[in-house]
Amino acid sequence: MISGGIVESRFVAGFSLVDHHLQCDGVDLGAIAAVEGTPLYVYSAELLRARFHALDDAFGTYPHALHYALKANSNLAIGRLLHGLGSCADANSIWEIDVARRMGFRPDQIVFTGVGKSPEELERAVTLGLKAINVESAGELARIEALAVAHGQPARVAVRINPDIDAKSHPHISTGLKINKFGVPVDAARELFTTLSGRPYLKLVAVHVHIGSQVTSLEPLRGAAEFVAAIAVELRRMGMELEYVDVGGGLGISYDGSPVIEPRAYVEAIVDAVRPTGLPIVIEPGRSIVGPAGVLLGRVIDLKPRNAISDFAVLDAGMTELMRPALYGAFHRIEPLRASGAEPRHYELVGPVCESSDVVGRDRMLPPLAIGDVVAIRDAGAYGSAMASNYNRRPLPAEVMVDDGHWHVIRRRQSIDDMLALEFGGKGAPVR
Ligand code: LLP
Repeated sequence: MISGGIVESRFVAGFSLVDHHLQCDGVDLGAIAAVEGTPLYVYSAELLRARFHALDDAFGTYPHALHYALKANSNLAIGRLLHGLGSCADANSIWEIDVARRMGFRPDQIVFTGVGKSPEELERAVTLGLKAINVESAGELARIEALAVAHGQPARVAVRINPDIDAKSHPHISTGLKINKFGVPVDAARELFTTLSGRPYLKLVAVHVHIGSQVTSLEPLRGAAEFVAAIAVELRRMGMELEYVDVGGGLGISYDGSPVIEPRAYVEAIVDAVRPTGLPIVIEPGRSIVGPAGVLLGRVIDLKPRNAISDFAVLDAGMTELMRPALYGAFHRIEPLRASGAEPRHYELVGPVCESSDVVGRDRMLPPLAIGDVVAIRDAGAYGSAMASNYNRRPLPAEVMVDDGHWHVIRRRQSIDDMLALEFGGKGAPVR
């Protein structure tokens, strides 16, 4: 639109309705779905950048590093984009480390967490010389030490402490309570620290906490940061100087539109907690960067009456593409790609998978849907594609990134040949 010689940009980063059509970074989602098909994940490069910068900039001059949690979404293009912005990486398996390396992350930009690291994973982690292996038990620390000795290469370790803090998130994704399997209890950690002085192949570089994911109250996050800061001070008194503290990830996003913690408030709380130590801060955000930057597009493939007031809308996207509703009862906003003023109707939006738990949106009011309509399932950028499966032999969907007014396929749709490429058709694998 031209007015007074000034080109009015209608561009809005992320997903917004323009002239009743849902767009991603100014590109019509309907047009993308028409070409690339559904189900389809669509990501906004501009929103990814904005969300990374919102967290990063909030630290101001305070020394820090953002280690993007790859588990949220480890598509190569997304990782490379974040790497290009100055992100580091948090990996949860040796395979995520390999993916991180292919994204361009150097070993000294990667922290490795994981409650059960196999001997092979530990060996590779030690020999790669990562920024830190976040250690989950005294036994694991001893195994790392043995490998470090065997390879003549001291290992950089951080001890993950279980702070017994209630993240007040869904029980499946709360990790900071004593009853959870994660980390070393604080008393055991203190004991472990006393053993470190005579162990030259272990270099304690940090203490680590991660209390859970989709945390929507600030207090537990602040509490976790205060906790690691206090431990760092204790260690300093014992003559052990850390390089940084790692306060984990967990910052929640708004799935239903209600207000959540702003990145600035979150960063301010953790910086306030850690500042007295003077130590740099590592955070491991996943969802808060990539969650809102992605949608899952699904097409209505059937409609049928459910009860007197409601219909089932069967989509071609379900628990195989977005596990969160089935696994955690999670809520994701769902909207048609074309806004309509028509009287809304009551729908149960379900996926095509043979499970009654395959409900994407329960009891939703939406404008009347017709077969062939495409809907956007919002905030599917994190733990969507990353948790997708081939259940019912459904192929993994394509993924698309919109950047600078164009879209690019960043993962093609899986074909049946891709899916069967690892199988031997009843003849069995070649005998070794
Ligand atoms: N660091 C560690 C050690 C973690 O275990 C996690 C997530 C993160 C960082 C990143 O947390 P975030 O910033 O994304 O909250 N599948 C679940 C979430 C599982 C999170 C597991 N750990 C979901 O869909 O809600």
